[in-house]
Amino acid sequence: MSWILTTDLSFFLSFLLALHNCSVDSSRKIHLSLCVLYWIIMVPTLLILVGALTTLQADLLLNKNFSLLPPVNFTIKAIGLAQVLLHWHPNPDQEQRNIDLQYYVKISAPQEDEYYTRKTESKYVIPLHEGFEASVRTTLRSSHSPLASSWVSAELKAPPGSSGTSVINLTCTTNTVMSSHTNLRPYQVSLRCTWLVGKDAPEDTQYFLYYRFGVWTEECKEYSRDALNRNTACWFPRTFINSKGFEQLAVHINGSSKHAAIKPFDQLFTPHVIDQVNPPMNVTVETEETSLYIQWEKPVSAFPGHCFNYELKICNTKNGYLQVERLSTNKFISKIDAVSPYSIQVRAAVSSSCRMSGSWGEWSQPIYVGKEKKPLAEWCLIVLPATICFILLIFSLVCRMCHLWTKLFPPVPAPKSTIKDLIVETEYEKASSNETRIEVVTCVEEAGFEVMGNSVF
Ligand SMILES: *[C@@H]1O[C@H](CO)[C@@H](O)[C@H](O)[C@H]1NC(C)=O
Ligand SMILES: *[C@@H]1O[C@H](CO)[C@@H](O)[C@H](O)[C@H]1NC(C)=O
Ligand SMILES: *[C@@H]1O[C@H](CO)[C@@H](O)[C@H](O)[C@H]1NC(C)=O
Repeated sequence: MSWILTTDLSFFLSFLLALHNCSVDSSRKIHLSLCVLYWIIMVPTLLILVGALTTLQADLLLNKNFSLLPPVNFTIKAIGLAQVLLHWHPNPDQEQRNIDLQYYVKISAPQEDEYYTRKTESKYVIPLHEGFEASVRTTLRSSHSPLASSWVSAELKAPPGSSGTSVINLTCTTNTVMSSHTNLRPYQVSLRCTWLVGKDAPEDTQYFLYYRFGVWTEECKEYSRDALNRNTACWFPRTFINSKGFEQLAVHINGSSKHAAIKPFDQLFTPHVIDQVNPPMNVTVETEETSLYIQWEKPVSAFPGHCFNYELKICNTKNGYLQVERLSTNKFISKIDAVSPYSIQVRAAVSSSCRMSGSWGEWSQPIYVGKEKKPLAEWCLIVLPATICFILLIFSLVCRMCHLWTKLFPPVPAPKSTIKDLIVETEYEKASSNETRIEVVTCVEEAGFEVMGNSVF
């Protein structure tokens, strides 16, 4: 090693010498261009030399039996829902020698990850229901160096309970609502989560939901329950969640039962992914001959107006023609034909200029303009059942009348009807308790009525 160093140095010195000559004779043209050439060679050579010297430093350290010692007292502590603190101390016996130390952290469970840090502690956010395992070792800050200490490891045990007792299919959504306390923040974020009971959870299981956003943790107070009175949904009318934030939302559901340990369940959610954007407000539509003037206001949201994209849907309900517009303004003028009815709806999404763009929100309530206020299908749904009901009513009235008629004007005896009446009476007596038979009677009576009608009128 030192031999390489000496050759390198002598090479370097001869260059310096040549350079010195250069600057002295620079009055001559040929020499000047030669000097430029020297410089071009010099700069990279110098850089290489500096690099070589740095690696040599590390190599020298190796030569002299230098070693890095692992950190001591490495601990992992759960400091919040789905959040741990890794903490260690530098090894007190570590030689210092003006070297730059750093730590290499490797997470092995529940999911592999690795990173470098110069600090002696670090926070890590991850679901903890499967436990957590990590190792750390001391390394040199200069990259490429293979020098590293041995590993020290620590773990956080998985909480008790079989995995079948945990909740499954947890989904959460957030929604921005106007604050009722105007002196505080003007907007609040509500949170709604639903889940299914684990297949191995005993009948007396009760689940409890908590969320953490940043440093805030809250327990659910408004649950919905299943038939066995087990909590299966939760609603927070207001939370500490900031819909503009980039932090992850941690949701933790644990439980209790007399018959088994209920394994908790953690899930992380990205706020912009689960945020349901409200529909635009105050949608107004004005028609003027063959033009539609459509306007709306931004949805209830903590984001300012310029942060929204809109999608406008204009549907010709007569021929089913659909016009869809993507807009970043909050008004639109559309040409229409004056004889068709239209329905108009708008929805919003936060644009990528203000946060990671999420999905489209809910459509606004449809606004109908034009001739018919309601599309044909809706009319059918209302008118058809109404007509059927009316006909049935008339029919039953007629039947009642028929009873009345038979009582008021007893039928004129005719051979045909007497026979029928006779059958009716015997049938009636035979099955006075049987309802289906009674129905048969009514039908026969109707026939009798017809006969009577024919004979009387
Ligand atoms: C490591 O922990 C032990 C025992 O808890 C303690 O005596 C020691 O001082 C700690 N070492 C350092 C460097 O903090
Ligand atoms: C629950 O989730 C699983 C897998 O994600 C899916 O197959 C199943 O259909 C879901 N169950 C219900 C009732 O939604
Ligand atoms: C559920 O978790 C919360 C928050 O960590 C804790 O305070 C509570 O004691 C736990 N309940 C059960 C039944 O484990």
